[in-house]
Order: sequence, then C-alpha cells, then structure tokens
Amino acid sequence: MSRRNFLAVSGAMAGTSIISPKSKMLASTVTNLGENNRKMKIALVGTGIRGTSMWGRSLVQEYADFTEFVGLCDHNPGRLEAGKRIIGVNCPTFTNFEQMMRETKPEVLIVTTDDDTHDYFIEKGMEMGADIICEKPMAIDEKKIQRIIDAEKRTGKKCRVTFNYRYSPHRAKMWELIRSGEIGDLTSVDFHWYLDTSHGADYFRRWHRLVEKGGSLWVHKASHHFDLLNWWIESDPESVYALGDLEYYGKNGPFRADNCRSCPHTKECKFHFDITRSERLMELYVDNEKYDGYKRDGCVFKNDINIYDKMAASIKYKNGVQVSYSLTAYSPYEGYRIAFNGTKGRMDAWIQESNPTSDANYDEIVLYKNFGRREYIQIPQGSGHGGGDKLLKDQIFIPDTLDPFKQMAGIRDGSLACLVGIAARKSIVSKEPVMIKDLTSLVPQEKKIIEAYQ
Ligand SMILES: NC(=O)c1ccc[n+]([C@@H]2O[C@H](COP(=O)([O-])OP(=O)(O)OC[C@H]3O[C@@H](n4cnc5c(N)ncnc54)[C@H](O)[C@@H]3O)[C@@H](O)[C@H]2O)c1
Repeated sequence: MSRRNFLAVSGAMAGTSIISPKSKMLASTVTNLGENNRKMKIALVGTGIRGTSMWGRSLVQEYADFTEFVGLCDHNPGRLEAGKRIIGVNCPTFTNFEQMMRETKPEVLIVTTDDDTHDYFIEKGMEMGADIICEKPMAIDEKKIQRIIDAEKRTGKKCRVTFNYRYSPHRAKMWELIRSGEIGDLTSVDFHWYLDTSHGADYFRRWHRLVEKGGSLWVHKASHHFDLLNWWIESDPESVYALGDLEYYGKNGPFRADNCRSCPHTKECKFHFDITRSERLMELYVDNEKYDGYKRDGCVFKNDINIYDKMAASIKYKNGVQVSYSLTAYSPYEGYRIAFNGTKGRMDAWIQESNPTSDANYDEIVLYKNFGRREYIQIPQGSGHGGGDKLLKDQIFIPDTLDPFKQMAGIRDGSLACLVGIAARKSIVSKEPVMIKDLTSLVPQEKKIIEAYQ
C-alpha cells in the first residue's frame, strides 16, 4: 500500500485515535529518537524575532529532548550574535548560508528569513540535503512557488509550512463542526479580518510595507487566512476576483519621516512608536542597524509604501463553495468575523483579541439550524496565536503526536495559500478574475489532496 493510500485508509477524522501520520523527515526522526536516542539536528536561517523566539529559544527550553541546534545563519552579523544569545545555544554561527549547510549538515533547516528569500533557502536547503520547516508565507510570487515545487520533485526532500493558525482550538472546532454535518453541505463562507492600528500599523513600519519583500498583505498576512479557508473547505481555490487600495497609511499621511526616532512629529502622531522602550527590539534591530541600515521603527506614512491597506476578494472553490473575504489594516480592534453557510444551517464566530469590554477567556462559536434552535459553543483561549504555536511545535517535534484535524501542511498547501493572494494582486491590476491553474503547475482539485508525506 502506498503511503498516500495508507493515509486515506487511516481517515484522520477528528477524535479518532490513529498513529501520527508524520512526514518522512519527522518519521525518520521519530525512529531515530526511538532507536538511537538521537535528536533532530537543526540549523536555522534568519535570527530575527520569529527565528529567535518561536523557533529558537522555545525549542531550547521546551523541546531539548528532541532537538539540537547545529548552526545559525543570518546575513546581519550583529543580529546573528544577538540571536545566538537570545536562543541560548552554543552552536557555530555563519553569515554564509551554504558554508553553514556544508559544515553542519543539518537534517532539518528552519527558514525564518524575510518572505522574499524563502524560495532560495528552501531550494538550496533541499539541494544540500535537508528537509525544511518554513514559516509562512512559503513564497511571494508564482515563479518562486514553481521553483519550490520543482525542487521538491528533484531532490525528494520535504518542506513543512508552519500554518500555526490551523492549530488554535476554536478553529479546529470549526473544522470539526463543518465535518460533523451540523450545517449540512457547506455552500459559502463570509470571512472578514481586522488588523488594528497597533499590530496592523506595524506591517507598514517594517520590510512588510514593500510588495517586493512580503508580497503585500495579500500574501504575507492573508495567506494564513487563505490556508484556513482551504483547510476548512477541503477543496482547492479555482478563481479569485479582487479589489484593493492604499488609502490610510503611506502617501495618505499628514506628515512623514524616515523613522520614529528621527521624526519631528512625534507629539502629534498617533502612530509614534518608541522602539527604545523594548530591550529585545533594541538588541535585535537598533543595535545592528550599522550592518544593514534596516530601521525596525519605520514611518507608517513613508512614501515608498506600496502595499494595500484595504482588500476584498471573491474566491470560488472547485467544489462550488464561494467565499467573500476582506482584510482591513486600520481597525479599532484586532480580530475577525466568520460565517459558514450550509444547506442545513449556519455557523458564526466573531473573535476579538484582547477585547477590553469583555473578560471572557473563551472564544465562542454560534451554531444555527434552519428552522431550529441555536447553540453556543465556548472554547477556552490559549496564548501564542490562540494556543496554536505550541500545538504546532508539539506535533512537529514530539514523536507520535496525533494529527486528527489534518493540520500538517506541506508544499502543496503552502503554495495554494499564497496563490490565492498572488491571484488577488493580479486581479486588481487586470480587473479580471484570475484562475489559480494558470499560475503554476498545480492543478486545483475538487477534493483537497492530503499531501503524500503526511
Ligand atoms: N506564523 C506566524 O504567525 C509568523 C509570525 C511572525 C513572523 N512570521 C514569519 O517569520 C519570518 C521572519 O519574520 P520576522 O518577523 O522574524 O522578521 P525579521 O525581520 O525579524 O527577521 C528576519 C531575519 O532574516 C534575516 N535575513 C533576511 N534575508 C536574509 C538572507 N538573505 N540571508 C540571511 N539572513 C537573512 C534578517 O537579517 C533578519 O534577521 C517571515 O517569513 C514572517 O512572515 C510568521
């Protein structure tokens, strides 16, 4: 029986007890741990905030029984040394990536660099013998995605894309409820995401403000949301029609400077951000500006900002489900509203992070039955992307962790999540719907393919 057939037979429905369908890379690591008590040899490229926290210090402190760092790389030598201190390891450091791969021969490479560079590190990392764990978004345009698809075929190596949003318990509950048939057959989804004037504004301060670095929020941010949709709907996106504009940040501001520290308008600017109050941001970024000139506290009204701050899309799925999606980057609160419409009812959620008017420590889903009653389902909140970050790492690093909600994602899922955003960007320019099948060699399927390595 092929691995894929084995998994199809396993079913992996929520709540069933199956042996964890690990990736090849992780399965071999499980065996290594079981038989030789050997830890996963990890190298990491990109010692910024995500690399040092989620994939650095946390691994050293919580997953040391299963992992060991053999090398760290960053092209900013100051941030590299700061990163090593923060992570708390003693392994060699490199500003030259290929030298690190040659000398340390990691089994697994973790990629936490700027989004526009992921494709290079994934491809080269695979060619130099490693399986990959890559932060989202997997890549920012269709050519880079194709390079990764081709590299996986050529090298036989695997890449795991870390969609932590799938792992928050209330989203897993939605996945489970859709599959339970409570609302009948899913027909459409309304999904609206709100970034507030603090977190949302932060994207306009950093490298994320440039489409050539992060693919715009359509890819950098919304690939999380498109991945959730692909996972919930369990079908592939077929076409995207989109609108978008930049009408709040960037050129729209009343004044501007290069960055907050050099700004003469700090008193009147609501977006003034005093980076000197954060020891961690000073240590990682400000202390190392001399190496690359990167200012972490850039002005949100800079004229070079070329991403959208309001976006809307209509997405059609191969199984006929329609989605109305929007993303607003200057909302008074952070959160989202979602509704799943089905032939027998509807499921709603309105999630607000850190809601000052509520002391509830749960997220609520409301289930409505056509001609029937409504039911309120409350799911306790966790910390770190709703508790998702830890569950994701448990599944990757702790042997025999189950995958009942099919939360593991590889290159196919990583690609499709980005391709919806890439199609949206193209649709805004062409003013026409864009077909996903026209972007890469991936052929959208009516029933989502569970990737072979899972
Ligand atoms: N899943 C999530 O919720 C989540 C949250 C935050 C960030 N991320 C992702 O993690 C990644 C890193 O984000 P971050 O916030 O840590 O950014 P960051 O700017 O803090 O860190 C990126 C690091 O990569 C380094 N780098 C860039 N290009 C390089 C190159 N060519 N060679 C070597 N080093 C290079 C930079 O010097 C920097 O230290 C991004 O892809 C981002 O989208 C995901």
